[in-house]
Amino acid sequence: MAIPLQRPYLGREELDAVAKVFESRWLGMGAATKEFEDKLRDFLGAPHVIAVNTGTSALHIALDACGIAPGDEVIVPSLTFAASVQVITCCGAQPVFCDVEIDTFNMDPADVERRISPRTRAVMPVHFGGLACDMDRLLHIAKTHNLLVIEDAAHAFGSSYKGRTIGTLGHVTCFSFDPIKNITCGEGGAVVTADDDIAARVIHKRILGIDQDTWSRYRHERSWFYEVVTPGYRYHMSNINAAIGLEQLKRLEAFRARKTAIVKQYDQAFRDLRAVALLRHDLEETFPFFYVLRVLDGRRDELMDYLKQKGVASGVHYIPNHLQPLYADFRVPLPVTEQIYGEMTTLPLFYEMADDDPALVIEAVRSFFGR
Ligand SMILES: Cc1ncc(COP(=O)(O)O)c(C=O)c1O
Repeated sequence: MAIPLQRPYLGREELDAVAKVFESRWLGMGAATKEFEDKLRDFLGAPHVIAVNTGTSALHIALDACGIAPGDEVIVPSLTFAASVQVITCCGAQPVFCDVEIDTFNMDPADVERRISPRTRAVMPVHFGGLACDMDRLLHIAKTHNLLVIEDAAHAFGSSYKGRTIGTLGHVTCFSFDPIKNITCGEGGAVVTADDDIAARVIHKRILGIDQDTWSRYRHERSWFYEVVTPGYRYHMSNINAAIGLEQLKRLEAFRARKTAIVKQYDQAFRDLRAVALLRHDLEETFPFFYVLRVLDGRRDELMDYLKQKGVASGVHYIPNHLQPLYADFRVPLPVTEQIYGEMTTLPLFYEMADDDPALVIEAVRSFFGR
């Protein structure tokens, strides 16, 4: 495919940083992981940042540390990556799917409120494409019903809501640094919270429930001694991944500027096409992750085939989870999600797009619609 959908940008600096880790022979969790956490904490202005190996691990460990367990319900949009839902079922809890707003693809607070039951423990806003959900309303609903807000901010590293950084709003926020995210660690994630107890539990659970404090306390007398204090996972972030992330953080504003410029170009070029609808986004606050079109004339699949012939990749994000076989038991009608599933397509958006790539994408889309 001449123009792919997404592609990570990695430079000489990332390679050199990884080489340094190789030379140190300390490949696992270590100094680079700690430095990455410190830099994230400064950037986000959040009290606790715990780096883990994927965004999925971040969500899983966050739910676990919040005590989400069998018998609980978690309200989640169906229109999200499978990871957001799998982690709920992996905790033995039940996903309760909610609908999204047609102009943002973010969870619809009114629908969230309708789906609250005596078993609801948490709400999981997914900031689709980097645009923050309506957090004032969601936090208000959560407070009224005594629910936890565990944000899936896999798309939203670097975005803000009413001037407040994503990572400082809900009880816990989870980021992904997988290959195509706003910054990458190769693979990686982070759990971010202001809650000391949740943070302490995540820190223990991240590395097999081992109490790091006892480990370091006894380091000089009995270096082999450690205590396992809670059930846990092996989800920590390695020095190799953190070293990549540290270099990527330095590029964040360059990534943001380029992607924002491409989004503006697309918006301007597609605004007058009657057969498409654009998503509402606030480029002052949103670090753009996806660029999505809604095709209103029933020809979405034809458009995707046409773009393929023209060498332009396109995608569908996402297949609604409530339509997946695994979740058949939790299926409920979600009219907006089901409608947009047939309309949406994602267009190429990444830092390294060549100068004339956006114009080629635009030309391909416009020529399909005969404009
Ligand atoms: C909305 C959403 N949540 C969670 C994840 C999981 O992140 P990771 O791939 O780092 O496990 C992703 C990744 O694509 C995602 O898009």
